[in-house]
Amino acid sequence: MKELLANLKTQALVEIEKAKDSDALYQVQVKYLGRKGELTNLMHGLANLSKEEKPLFGKLCNEIKVALEGAFEAKKQSLSSSEIEDKLKNSWIDVTAPGQTFETGHIHPLSQVQYDVEQIFSSMGFAIMDGPEIESEYYNFEGLNIPSWHPARDMQDTFFVKDEGHGNDSAAKKKHGRLVLRTQTSPVQVRTMEKYGAPLRVIVPGRVFRNEATDASHEHTFNQVEGLLIDKNISLADLKGVMQEFLTRLFGREMKVRFRPGYFPFVEPGIELDMSCTLCGEKGCRVCKHTGWMEFMGAGMVHPNVLKAGGIDSKKFQGWAFGFGLTRLTMMKYGIDDIRHLGGGDLRFLEQF
Ligand code: PHE
Repeated sequence: MKELLANLKTQALVEIEKAKDSDALYQVQVKYLGRKGELTNLMHGLANLSKEEKPLFGKLCNEIKVALEGAFEAKKQSLSSSEIEDKLKNSWIDVTAPGQTFETGHIHPLSQVQYDVEQIFSSMGFAIMDGPEIESEYYNFEGLNIPSWHPARDMQDTFFVKDEGHGNDSAAKKKHGRLVLRTQTSPVQVRTMEKYGAPLRVIVPGRVFRNEATDASHEHTFNQVEGLLIDKNISLADLKGVMQEFLTRLFGREMKVRFRPGYFPFVEPGIELDMSCTLCGEKGCRVCKHTGWMEFMGAGMVHPNVLKAGGIDSKKFQGWAFGFGLTRLTMMKYGIDDIRHLGGGDLRFLEQF
């Protein structure tokens, strides 16, 4: 038995040494130490030995097993490092081959113009606000001085949400009414006044929704930018200066603005603001119907009722608000002739920007 074990050990060590690669080494390992391997078989045979022999040979077997395992491990290490070396020697890369290219997306034109607008207004000290797209009737209308009987509600055809969202809170239900998809960014005026009080200087870019038939210049979903400035001694002259500066920076050339009277229930007086024609300056062309001007936005001095809804004392503070269509501005800036391109997701369109 002793001899048998000694031979087995020598034989195994020779085979380990001879193994050319890790596959061959594995075969040797299975041959001796595997479940049906030679050493394993001998160890199973220990059961038939006498009481005196059993511990003696048991110990010997274990020693051999440990020795072989050590030898396998050492050989494995040396094989794998030389295999890596071989691989490095025999393989190569062509460093002049062209690399893989990945398609990258880019910023949507609407977002690009929004970032430009935010950048310009931030530099003039305006903070950028956000508000919910699903809004209460209160913030979308009542808080903006548009009671439910007011014909101005028909100016903006509204999507209503089935779930009123108040649960059993009847006071909230009475004040806030139904839930709507906001038809304008103006509800954020009252929300901002409630939250921060006066003075205020904010813009609110955001999506709005109207139940409109779709055509080249109408969509049920579009983007607006609201502006609100509240402080002491504020007049429409400040609005004129701010807008002229804003448009001049946005279009990268001298722009002018002019006021016409306009009506919105949440401002008094209300105005419509026109800007120089983006195509011809003020010379007059087909696009501006030979007037030299383009309609740009609604604005006006914030109505005292709106200040009141926002918790601001209209005897101490006043201010102006404006709202323009970011979607329309984007179309004017890039000469896009159909609003449906902007939300259409057609890459042939988007890749032009
Ligand atoms: N909210 C108005 C609209 O969507 C625009 C507006 C905003 C007018 C603020 C005046 C003041 O038409």
